Amino acid sequence: MKNGLKQIEAKESMIAALAHEIKNPLNSIKGANKFLHDKYKFNKEIYEFTGLIENEILRLERYLNEFMSFSRGIKLRLREVDLENYLKGIILMAKHGFKGDILIKKKKDKLPLFVADPELFRQVLDNLILNAKDAVSKKNNPKIEIIIDYNGKYFIFEIFDNGCGIKKNNLKKVFLPFYTTKSNGLGIGLSICNAIIKKHNGQISVKSVEKKWTRFIIKMPYIKRDN
Ligand SMILES: Nc1ncnc2c1ncn2[C@@H]1O[C@H](COP(=O)(O)OP(=O)(O)O)[C@@H](O)[C@H]1O
Ligand SMILES: [Mg+2]
Repeated sequence: MKNGLKQIEAKESMIAALAHEIKNPLNSIKGANKFLHDKYKFNKEIYEFTGLIENEILRLERYLNEFMSFSRGIKLRLREVDLENYLKGIILMAKHGFKGDILIKKKKDKLPLFVADPELFRQVLDNLILNAKDAVSKKNNPKIEIIIDYNGKYFIFEIFDNGCGIKKNNLKKVFLPFYTTKSNGLGIGLSICNAIIKKHNGQISVKSVEKKWTRFIIKMPYIKRDN
């Protein structure tokens, strides 16, 4: 799995570089098209087609911008986080309209102070819980757990669900941008989670047994506050 993730990371940065490279020729096409669009205003057909080209170029630009913004544009604003209240707040929102249980389990009684970007980290947990809710949606006894541990170096957050699980062959794909198995999915959630965790110098990985359970594991480095 480690190798798999490395490969994915390499691929992701390749895709980001590619997105960047696509911008330049796209810009030239945009300029040339604009020239034709303005020059042939009087020719209905050409005017319409160049207008259509313009719209499609704008759509591609939007994709590229969105893509590049999450591959490099995350700025951390680190804060001390009162984990217990923080997680309670997140779960309270997540429970809304959910018929199962979402439980918090602490493996250690006393945890050191957690430092992270609370908004970005919340985005990660929200995404993982949302996926877990999707995964258990057809289960009779849906269960989602958030398990917190600390090993002296890292905080370890596990988001467990007893949902549909992930096929072995697909495990290495889930962090890829635009990978989705949902008819209404975008496939961006986990790649954003991955980018946010990496920005914190942490790691995110997944274990799963198809049709049984899935466990996302986040390792967040302990950051000592000395100011
Ligand atoms: N808890 C989970 N249980 C089963 N499959 C999951 C889980 N979380 C993610 N996946 C798989 O990973 C894919 C990508 O997830 P994500 O990036 O959040 O995109 P989306 O939710 O839009 O499909 C999902 O479509 C699903 O196949
Ligand atoms: Mg998702």
